[in-house]
Amino acid sequence: MAVQTPIYLDNHATTRCDPRVMEAMVPYFTTHFGNAASRTHVFGRVAEEAVDKARAQLARAIGATTDKEIVLTSGATESDNLAIKGAARMYRDRGDHLVTVCTEHKAVLDAHHALEREGFRVTFLPVRADGLVDLDELAAALTDQTILVSVMAVNNEIGVVQPLERIGRLCKDHGVLFFCDAAQAVGKVPIDVEAMHIDLLAFTAHKMYGPKGVGALWVRRKNPRVRLEPLFHGGGHERGLRSGTLAVPLVVAFGAAAELALNEMPEESARLLALRQRLWDGLRSHLTHLHLNGDWSARVPGNLNVSFAYVEGESLLMGIHDIAVSSGSACTSASLEPSYVLKALGVDDELAHTSIRFGIGRFNTTEEIDFTIARVTEVVHRLRDMSPLWEMVQEGIDLKTVHWAGH
Ligand SMILES: Cc1ncc(COP(=O)(O)O)c(C=O)c1O
Repeated sequence: MAVQTPIYLDNHATTRCDPRVMEAMVPYFTTHFGNAASRTHVFGRVAEEAVDKARAQLARAIGATTDKEIVLTSGATESDNLAIKGAARMYRDRGDHLVTVCTEHKAVLDAHHALEREGFRVTFLPVRADGLVDLDELAAALTDQTILVSVMAVNNEIGVVQPLERIGRLCKDHGVLFFCDAAQAVGKVPIDVEAMHIDLLAFTAHKMYGPKGVGALWVRRKNPRVRLEPLFHGGGHERGLRSGTLAVPLVVAFGAAAELALNEMPEESARLLALRQRLWDGLRSHLTHLHLNGDWSARVPGNLNVSFAYVEGESLLMGIHDIAVSSGSACTSASLEPSYVLKALGVDDELAHTSIRFGIGRFNTTEEIDFTIARVTEVVHRLRDMSPLWEMVQEGIDLKTVHWAGH
């Protein structure tokens, strides 16, 4: 069967809405259009019931015991900000120190930078070369002034899964709140807020085959009861934590997407792992000098992040333009800075610029993976054949020993 291009292999950026999710959502735009806060009539009550069902589906997807703890938001960016700023401002009298990790998503990093401007002190922990947090370093960073630790579940670039249970245990033992950005994790790897001792957890629909523009923050209500300073003030929706009329169709879709992802996780994970293995084996059988970025085993099934030495990053991306992927060099944005995540792993700029993030998802096929292997192989060979550096490597010259004119 001929493969249709362009091929979408950027499922960490966003995912296609599952048709089953669309089907669940559409009636809530038209037939059941009520405001979930309008309890005086049937239109409102139908909407409210649908929201309650979604809340229960969301709670189940993360191992929460009740659905009262789900605060619906516009996405993980908002949930990240509500968790971090909300907790820091609420517990300011207990301490002024926060701990996070330098490979977190910008929403988490920049929320911390904003708090630094309010007078909080922040420790940005480094990661090991495999992308994982060093638990001893985390333990050493905690002080009697620490009020919140924020560590993501799955990294959006390199896909590594952090040891959440051990991090949660450490935080609990120190009486520090633990916030986890699980935007790339929920529905992909098992998440259990109880077993993992998580106090606050952010997630979003569009990374799990739901629509863009809706997310949630789970807020622990018992052992301990976590309180937050809201970001928005208004009608007091979501127990006062997030005022604003709920986007009922999106919420319904989010719930449906979470339920599907949870139910299908075992099968889907196995399928994605097989596709990823096929991609990695295929690339390695045709090409040498590939570098895997991030730990291999502690990794979300759909992620493969690889650097292709001795090619030029932008030429590689242009060469594979019929495959939608992300690159470790931010060449689509204004800067040409290599990815801060890869830099944190100690990947040098050269290799970071030639890295590709393959994000395999629910709708990808074996044929698409085979097409990708063939196309990437062809382009990397072509670029290397044009590269004087590659020629030197082929001749056995160690480039590290070469003294370049002008340097
Ligand atoms: C780890 C992580 N956190 C937060 C976000 C932001 O999510 P949203 O697009 O729902 O605001 C993303 C998505 O880009 C992400 O990958």
